Amino acid sequence: MSRNKYTIAQIAGDGIGPEVIGEARKVADAAGEIYGFDIKWVEYPFGASHYIKTGEILPGKAVKEMEEMDAILLGAIGDPRVKPGILERGILLTLRFHFDMYTNLRPAKTFPRVPIPVKIPGDKTLDILVVRENTEDLYMGLGASSEKDISYDMSLTRGLYDLSGRLDLKLEPSSPMAVQLGIASEKGIRRITARACKEAASRGLETFTLASKSNAMPQLYGFWEEIAASEAEKHNMKMKTVNVDALCYHLVRNPWEYDVILCPNLFGDIVSDLLAGISGGLGVAAGANCGDRIGMYEPIHGSAPDIAGQEKANPIAAILSASLLLSSIGETSAAKGIEKAVSEYLEFSDEKHLPLEMGGNASTNETGIKIISMMSKLQNI
Ligand code: NAD
Ligand code: IPM
Ligand code: MN
Repeated sequence: MSRNKYTIAQIAGDGIGPEVIGEARKVADAAGEIYGFDIKWVEYPFGASHYIKTGEILPGKAVKEMEEMDAILLGAIGDPRVKPGILERGILLTLRFHFDMYTNLRPAKTFPRVPIPVKIPGDKTLDILVVRENTEDLYMGLGASSEKDISYDMSLTRGLYDLSGRLDLKLEPSSPMAVQLGIASEKGIRRITARACKEAASRGLETFTLASKSNAMPQLYGFWEEIAASEAEKHNMKMKTVNVDALCYHLVRNPWEYDVILCPNLFGDIVSDLLAGISGGLGVAAGANCGDRIGMYEPIHGSAPDIAGQEKANPIAAILSASLLLSSIGETSAAKGIEKAVSEYLEFSDEKHLPLEMGGNASTNETGIKIISMMSKLQNI
């Protein structure tokens, strides 16, 4: 039987990105050996060092090449040497928007033995899924700052539409000011709500939660609530709307009461880091950006400059992101094999063999090695 072959773009990026992606790639290759497929990795150098050296952020030629590939695996983008936003928007958000990856799935699960800061009653565990809208809201990239009046011509292209218009703002008396526009379209809300309904149904649920804030921003989030409710009804799904401030409170106090949480882009960014904090750390929090074209898989954490270059990073989030990638391209046994290996490694390792983030002293590299050997062991049982 011929083996499946996949081409995957690798953007290791900045800070701990190359360290964690190095391990994720080795684990994915090992899964290929065990489960019978091959991966051709195409490495791209984009990130801070490349930008400082060459001035290049993300050339169109590379994006065109990626169009022909099966998926993208990304580490993290962002570096203290470069002004915030240049690389994060120029690489990460550009890819999310270019490939119209309108869904950002961010699971938050508890793992065996991994300490969490919340006391969970009885034998309950956390298994929450943030379904984050990934192309609109305050992330549109429409904004300006000015010493005085703002007169700003806007135009951009998204998968769903071209947007154009003009913003004229004046303060009397005049003052330096800034504006950032949050936009939501009916089509944009409907498609992500449909995805949340699908995820909820596949978990056997009849209800999901919408994170909103229509009390303070009725135009944007009131619109969200109205359209999302009408879409949920079409899917026979009940939607419970909770203001995002109160939601953060409840997630810290009684997170086990939540399952699928649908979020507009900005709330999804914040809520998913909060959930990583209560469910085992940013070092285990994986993510998938997907739409109808190729997907991009990446841990939800950033480049962690505070621990970069020291082999201290926990690579599990990147490894689990590689597992989500393999699942998306149809290698579901391999994806499950990786997840099981991570879970058993966390449950049965000596405490000293756990990642530093979890109180052990395993380096990034040692963690990867342990997970690969657990995966091989499980396969041979
Ligand atoms: P961060 O996620 O990089 O770090 C927050 C904290 O979590 C730090 O203390 C860090 O050491 C810790 N941490 C993160 N990942 C870890 C891991 N795998 N193992 C152990 N500890 C880990 O967030 P930040 O400090 O706000 O951002 C740093 C840079 O990363 C910024 O430039 C930011 O823009 C960028 N960023 C990029 C992405 C991305 O590319 N997807 C995501 C978030 C932030
Ligand atoms: C994330 C990050 C990005 C986001 C940044 C780096 C632009 O925080 O992937 O969660 O806000 O989406
Ligand atoms: Mn984030």
